[in-house]
Amino acid sequence: MNKNIALIGFMGSGKSMIARELGIRLKRDVVATDDLVEAREGEAIHEIFKSKGEAYFRNLETEIIKEVSLRRGIIIDCGGGVVLVPKNLKFLKTNGIVFYLQATPLVIYQRIKNEKHRPLLKVPDPLGCIEALYQQRLPLYNQADYTIDANDASIEGPVVEILNKIK
Ligand code: S3P
Repeated sequence: MNKNIALIGFMGSGKSMIARELGIRLKRDVVATDDLVEAREGEAIHEIFKSKGEAYFRNLETEIIKEVSLRRGIIIDCGGGVVLVPKNLKFLKTNGIVFYLQATPLVIYQRIKNEKHRPLLKVPDPLGCIEALYQQRLPLYNQADYTIDANDASIEGPVVEILNKIK
């Protein structure tokens, strides 16, 4: 199986931990689009949002998605908003299988409420913001090849399910 495995889903859905574990079990390289954006720009994502705006970040994210999608046999841990630009999913599907890690807004909120580096959640009502973004993005996430239940605190279930799907 030389196809890439791309993980999409809301922030806090467990993409990074699951990507890391898949990388170990499958002995494959893991790349995180957020890390590549930060490395290219020499700035943390919340700083890019602040100094240059979200549109600038999204363009950079698409460039990175396009580049990593040319590789083979890697695990791609995608930023939560990649689905907002339709061609991103197209790039990811060219050489890859896309998995949507689904977790409810409340589960997501519980997981990320104490994190301070999320630019989109620096608002008075973060749960309301998560619910609104979730509703807006759900039809886009549903364009993944597979949906994986990622509500449980343990990553074992989603990891095994993904491994079974790519067998
Ligand atoms: C974003 C999610 C973040 C990061 C940026 C925007 C989003 O990635 O790309 O803050 O729009 O949902 P994670 O999902 O890895 O936290």
